[in-house]
Amino acid sequence: MPNPTDSTQPDNIQRYASHLGLLQETDRYRQCGIVDPGLLDFSSNDYLGLSQHPLLKARAAEAIARDGVGSTGSRLISGSSDAITLLEERVADWKQTEAALVLNSGYQANVSILQAILQPGDWVFCDALNHASLNDGVLLSGARLARYHHRDLQHLAEKLAKAPKDTLKWIVTDSVFSMDGTLADCPALVALADAFGAQILLDEAHASGVYGESRASGLSEAQGMSGKIHLQMGTFSKALGGFGAYLAGSRTMIETVINRGRGFIYSTALPPAVIAAADAAVHVVQTEPEHRKALWQRMEQVHSRLGVLSHPSHIVPLHVGEGSRAMGFNRALKEAGFFLQAIRPPTVPENTARLRLSLSARHTPEQVDALCTAWENLKKDQAI
Ligand SMILES: Cc1ncc(COP(=O)(O)O)c(C=O)c1O
Repeated sequence: MPNPTDSTQPDNIQRYASHLGLLQETDRYRQCGIVDPGLLDFSSNDYLGLSQHPLLKARAAEAIARDGVGSTGSRLISGSSDAITLLEERVADWKQTEAALVLNSGYQANVSILQAILQPGDWVFCDALNHASLNDGVLLSGARLARYHHRDLQHLAEKLAKAPKDTLKWIVTDSVFSMDGTLADCPALVALADAFGAQILLDEAHASGVYGESRASGLSEAQGMSGKIHLQMGTFSKALGGFGAYLAGSRTMIETVINRGRGFIYSTALPPAVIAAADAAVHVVQTEPEHRKALWQRMEQVHSRLGVLSHPSHIVPLHVGEGSRAMGFNRALKEAGFFLQAIRPPTVPENTARLRLSLSARHTPEQVDALCTAWENLKKDQAI
């Protein structure tokens, strides 16, 4: 295979080769790796293990046999189906909202939703650690972006106070932050939104299926705020084991995204197998709490072993400082039989590189114990 960073490339692609070379030199070169099947995977977002659930597999296979492999068009042309409409009804019921919409991926959902609901002149208030897709959606909309320090509601209040009274204001935040495992404070956000006449878009990508005692619909449910958050998006790609995303909210807001969301309008709808798996997953998370309970037990185990209790969540950042140290720990953990993703700048701020430990209901207590022991032993090794 030709070396992509080769400096003898023709002039017209030299800029790209140089850029890739720089990334390599600074240890920031990204590659699509495959997790070695011989390692225990502590990096995936399959929090409940549903990617391997028999019902999801069976429903997906039945859908292919019945409806084929493709949806054949965008939702506004030939891509809609009774199955998608039924999934949207199921999601609205799960999230207890008036309506819901299925979108093609979490990334595409966030970009499309924000582009659809915002316009230049509106103000958007974003947590500094929001997922990249939320930032990209705001940029695309042309609305004015005000970022507040991570989970700092005093800072958010100061920013809100600066916005003109008659502008449309949206507070946009992850509910569970993907790289830190920290949690948004939904009741406090709702109180601020009420005080300043703002609306909230909550990204429940890492909370759907994991949080919420009765329906497992997300952090908004767990914090008693289901009916108070104007728009909630989430994905079927993490705890729900499959692929795709949803938006839940009022009929007016859903219709707004259908009519204005370019990523929704101009893209082929999800295929039947993906819809069928998502539908089965929304059913399973509500009827089989054992997966969630197993995950919570593993979570408590890690938190009591490693003492990282400030934010009890299934995503545990193991901080190591510099990016090169994260790579050192990543390699040493591989040698010990575990795979944890090293997360480095620019994904996270300078000097906050970490190993992202993500737990799954499929991990056994013994596996979690073995990882904690390996981690504690490696931390004593000054050479890393
Ligand atoms: C908070 C958050 N929102 C959205 C997404 C994008 O979801 P998807 O992977 O389905 O595109 C992610 C993915 O990691 C995420 O962490």
